[in-house]
Amino acid sequence: MADRRIPLIAGNWKMNGLNAALVEIDKLAGLLGAGERPDCAVAICPPATLLSALSARAGATGILTGGQDCHPKASGAHTGDISAVMLADAGATYVIVGHSERRTDHHEDDALVRSKALAALGAGLTPIICVGEARAEREAGRAIEVVTSQLLGSVPDEAGTNEVVIAYEPVWAIGTGLTPTIADVEAMHASIRSQLADRFGAAGKTIRILYGGSMKPANAKEILAVANVDGGLVGGASLLANDFYGIISAV
Ligand code: 13P
Repeated sequence: MADRRIPLIAGNWKMNGLNAALVEIDKLAGLLGAGERPDCAVAICPPATLLSALSARAGATGILTGGQDCHPKASGAHTGDISAVMLADAGATYVIVGHSERRTDHHEDDALVRSKALAALGAGLTPIICVGEARAEREAGRAIEVVTSQLLGSVPDEAGTNEVVIAYEPVWAIGTGLTPTIADVEAMHASIRSQLADRFGAAGKTIRILYGGSMKPANAKEILAVANVDGGLVGGASLLANDFYGIISAV
């Protein structure tokens, strides 16, 4: 099947995890090695302080790693920032860009997110470009309109010829235990797919669209079975190997 998309289950540790948390990688590798390996890619995006160590530890386990953000430039006088080239050098395969927590906490707009996605591609990383509506926007019936506009502004034209991943994360579902109805997930992912296909043609059908927001072992199977849901971007439930494996094994 030409459009077959290998699912991706990516963990976003956010600002959580000290060196002691690295053992979760060993536990996850153990769980993945013990049973039949699910047919999906698995990645963990730890805080930058742990990226090198976690990448080294993941080694040959097949678990990939990613950053949580990058600067649009490769180097320079930008105190506190990290470039995509640096993430790649630390062993990353992916980098999350445009997460709603960055859009809110650091006032990131679509143009900046797009420039970060481009920097990621330039460094040989796959950007995971996040979009998602706020609660008021959904309640006003504007969820699809908002996400459509974010996609247009945040996804670079180069996504037609390079690997990118989209993550749909309704802001109100993040860390709240709330999730959209299955029908709403299906409608949003179908809308994103049709926009990608209109813009990028056949390539738009190969782009993975992840769902994120309170994904847990208990709801993963139902969400991952929805058409055009090609995996998950998991926050809280990615911190412990057992929980994260519960989601991976739901693929
Ligand atoms: P939770 O899974 O904790 O809701 O977080 C989702 C998220 O923001 C992943 O990027």
